[in-house]
Amino acid sequence: MIFYFSGTGNSAWAARQLARLTGDEVYDVTDLNGLPKMDNAKQIGFVFPVYAWGAPEIMEDFAKKLPRPRVFTFGVCTCGGDAGLTMKQFSKLYPLDGSYSLLMPNNYIIGSDTDETGEILQKITAARGELERMAQEIRRQERIYRVHEGALAGVKSRLVNFGFNKFARSAKPFYAGDSCNGCGRCAENCPASAISIRDGKPVWAERCFQCLRCINECPRQAIQYGKVTAGRRRYTIRPYLPRDEQL
Ligand SMILES: Cc1cc2nc3c(=O)[nH]c(=O)nc-3n(C[C@H](O)[C@H](O)[C@H](O)COP(=O)(O)O)c2cc1C
Ligand code: SF4
Ligand code: SF4
Repeated sequence: MIFYFSGTGNSAWAARQLARLTGDEVYDVTDLNGLPKMDNAKQIGFVFPVYAWGAPEIMEDFAKKLPRPRVFTFGVCTCGGDAGLTMKQFSKLYPLDGSYSLLMPNNYIIGSDTDETGEILQKITAARGELERMAQEIRRQERIYRVHEGALAGVKSRLVNFGFNKFARSAKPFYAGDSCNGCGRCAENCPASAISIRDGKPVWAERCFQCLRCINECPRQAIQYGKVTAGRRRYTIRPYLPRDEQL
């Protein structure tokens, strides 16, 4: 069984590709109604994006509640650069036999512009190869730690991650500009249910997951986050996938 969370599709795609190669069933944690039956689980995997060198809180909360049958476990974090101690810290919540990071296109438009098309395609092609290698190792139930931690991993995953979860998850700076046509897609697709449509325009709650699906996937590119996102490229994996890999 592979459980995943994904904002802009990288982790959803990686989870599905991996499940196809390992023969696992795949579950989006935001679609689950309560905890799944795990009686027949032969192995358990998690796939999620790195947020400020840590796992998304929704994934940590899910893992804390999930039963722990005595089977092989593995986790994959997708990241735009480096993962810090994400997998070591996640493994304290749900012990993992195999831990990996997977380099994928960067969706953090608040921090910097997202990757250019060439780099996106390169990363996805390399990720396909890395997922095949991972799947072979998982099938052999190998205990592997292959995570690109990067520099200052401890500082980033402890201090910066603490600051991110405490202070940087405000949804208040989001707003929709004049090109918004009130289609409602952002509200329907928000995994935190943090957007509602009022008088034909989206309104954001105080806090959210910061998955950045709304700003990256608005069909009219109408959403901004404060002053920093104007003119930056939007990213979602969908336009870069062939038909047989679509989400
Ligand atoms: C709030 C936020 C924080 C992020 N922090 C990091 C980070 O610390 N290191 C990194 O390499 N990528 C970081 N990223 C980039 C994502 O981890 C990366 O693009 C990921 O593959 C997105 O997965 P998704 O499409 O499944 O949401 C961050 C993205 C977001 C939205
Ligand atoms: S998805 Fe974009 S266009 Fe549609 S309601 Fe949201 S902000 Fe407006
Ligand atoms: S408001 Fe936007 S960034 Fe926040 S959880 Fe919802 S879709 Fe993700």
